[in-house]
Amino acid sequence: MTRSRFAVRLVALAVLAGAAIGGFAPSSTASGRPLKPGVGKDLFGTMPDGTKVWRYTLTNGSMRVRVITYGGIIQTIETPDRHGRLANVTLGFPTLSDYLTKNSTYFGALIGRYGNRIAKGRFALDGHEYQLTTNNNGNTLHGGTTGFDQRVWSATPITGGGGVALRLSHTSPDGDQGFPGTLKTDVTISVTRHNAIRFDYGATTDKPTVVNLTNHSYFNLSGEGSGTVYDHRLQINGSRYTPVGSSELIPTGRIAPVRGTPLDFTRPAAIGARIRTGFDQLLYGQGYDHNFALDGSGWKVAARVHDPASGRTLAISTDQPGLQFYSGNFLDGTLVGTGGRVYRQGDGFALETQHFPDSPNHADFPSTELDPGRTYHSTTVYQFGA
Ligand code: GLA
Repeated sequence: MTRSRFAVRLVALAVLAGAAIGGFAPSSTASGRPLKPGVGKDLFGTMPDGTKVWRYTLTNGSMRVRVITYGGIIQTIETPDRHGRLANVTLGFPTLSDYLTKNSTYFGALIGRYGNRIAKGRFALDGHEYQLTTNNNGNTLHGGTTGFDQRVWSATPITGGGGVALRLSHTSPDGDQGFPGTLKTDVTISVTRHNAIRFDYGATTDKPTVVNLTNHSYFNLSGEGSGTVYDHRLQINGSRYTPVGSSELIPTGRIAPVRGTPLDFTRPAAIGARIRTGFDQLLYGQGYDHNFALDGSGWKVAARVHDPASGRTLAISTDQPGLQFYSGNFLDGTLVGTGGRVYRQGDGFALETQHFPDSPNHADFPSTELDPGRTYHSTTVYQFGA
């Protein structure tokens, strides 16, 4: 037995043991069969250079998550509704070729080396000026023209706390997209016994650099392709946000209160209730596409979402200071998703935990600098319920 097969079997055994002890209620698939806990692996496709792309299926007995090694992309998340029926609640594509040619939406992808925007792709660090590749109106979005969302990651299934997990690794060379330092990155994606998906990010560098890692999953708790998420009720634990200056969506540098604006989600509100108001911030990005400064420091609940139709809930906790709420504004009916249905504006939302956009150019934003000898750590948990 190869080492990786052995590891897969170990995980499967551990999960079966976890199921026996924890006794979580199995969900049933459309065919009525209960989910079998464990980690599966199948060939998802082949890159133009011949590199194989694998798909791992992580199942805890109640939910099932598929991750592909291209972009570390979460392809599907099947979770139970209030009746225990599974639906895929994340947006994605059926084939590798779709991800290679159409994923400028970053569906499900790991984002690095710097999530969100850096103005003009420029910043200075320790007296050096750096110019990054630019890919969004002359600015750098989500790491540049070839970000982490387009790399093939190496994957190892691991046992983790009674759940199932996959460790993804990638080394980004010094100068990649213009960023200084060799960045060794590890991301562990776990599906816990209690229906959470947990992301543990780690990175080290050999030169001072900036890092901001996240995941760009879009959610529709009624099921992908089922229509807009405008009825979902959202609460964000952020009483301030970083306003943007124009449709380029670069922060002005201000940290402004949400009170009295349609960005006030401190109490639960339907995503669509105020999205069409004439508030200038909602015109720039054709809806919500904003970084919220989360209240409190350290580990905290960042946001909660409730879908009244299915009863599904999502709570996001993180150690990061910011959260990008993006209401799927640029989905324009040109993409056909995993289940064969067209995605239109508002058919999914993203909540990306992060440091603030353009931090390297704003000394008063929390620092994103990473120095040699230190390790970047960050954790975000997506807790599903019904
Ligand atoms: C991020 C950005 C959005 C948009 C999406 C992808 O969330 O903030 O402006 O570019 O990615 O479409």
